Amino acid sequence: MNDLRKQIEQLVLQTLQELRPGMQEIAPLMQVSQLQTSSFTYGKRVPFVAANWKMNQLSASAKSFIIELQKLDRKNVQTVICAPHILLSQMAAERQYADLLLGAQNFYPETAGAFTGEHSLQMLADAGVNTVIIGHSERRNLFGEQDELLAKKLSTAIANNFLPIFCVGENLAERKNGSTFRVLYNQLTTGLSQIRPPFPDPDKIVFAYEPIWAIGTGVTATADQAEEAVAFVRERLVEKFSYAYAEKVRVLYGGSVNEKNTTSLAAKPSIDGFLVGNASLGVSTFASIIDQTAACKRMV
Ligand code: 13P
Repeated sequence: MNDLRKQIEQLVLQTLQELRPGMQEIAPLMQVSQLQTSSFTYGKRVPFVAANWKMNQLSASAKSFIIELQKLDRKNVQTVICAPHILLSQMAAERQYADLLLGAQNFYPETAGAFTGEHSLQMLADAGVNTVIIGHSERRNLFGEQDELLAKKLSTAIANNFLPIFCVGENLAERKNGSTFRVLYNQLTTGLSQIRPPFPDPDKIVFAYEPIWAIGTGVTATADQAEEAVAFVRERLVEKFSYAYAEKVRVLYGGSVNEKNTTSLAAKPSIDGFLVGNASLGVSTFASIIDQTAACKRMV
């Protein structure tokens, strides 16, 4: 029965994509999705803003960043700094508030052994880290991480009580040829394939829609483009988990988020926060993104 349902959905997706080629013409989502998404109860999810420093910062700048950030009111926005591995222990030592999460940008899903250059979750936990980014497009594309490995990483992170931020997103050619939703569908279907009951608490798993064409390019998805893709991601979660579960899961947007575009993106009801690259390197810009997110989400 499930297989049949999957086949029908694939067919619907395929037909919709074929009917709607072209970058600006992607939208509305498949009808099944739209109907359910419009009735989600918003405002129940705690906003979530994560810094992805990528390969940036040194020990001095990382230290002053975390000290300065902790002086500011984060206004009940769950905040994460995903720093390079080598900075994480030092940052954990500076951390005064348990609600400020520290994240790693990568790990290897084995406990220990001959995996030159890699870090296990056990090592990260030992360094005070409890969050990991999985499936970032730079890991997928520059380092060749495939969907199957990412699925294993996701289930391993959950089994080890880490909070994973699982990223999905299409490239420019895929957006232009109208296959955005097919790409997201496939990435999510494979990525989630190794997660089995008992599922983690819905606030212990986070997803991020990061269109590759918007990452580091200064070209942000429009608020409508981001909203529909994020809503699509949540619909896949309904299919995997349940409606009640998916309604509680945070789904972020990432890709050239900055002080100027945060408010319009955060005003969208499905977008629960951001995964921020360049604009997370300076504390005042990052804090402004947190403040604007909090302000918008109070109004939703
Ligand atoms: P930018 O914000 O620099 O575009 O990076 C986004 C990103 O990749 C976050 O993971």
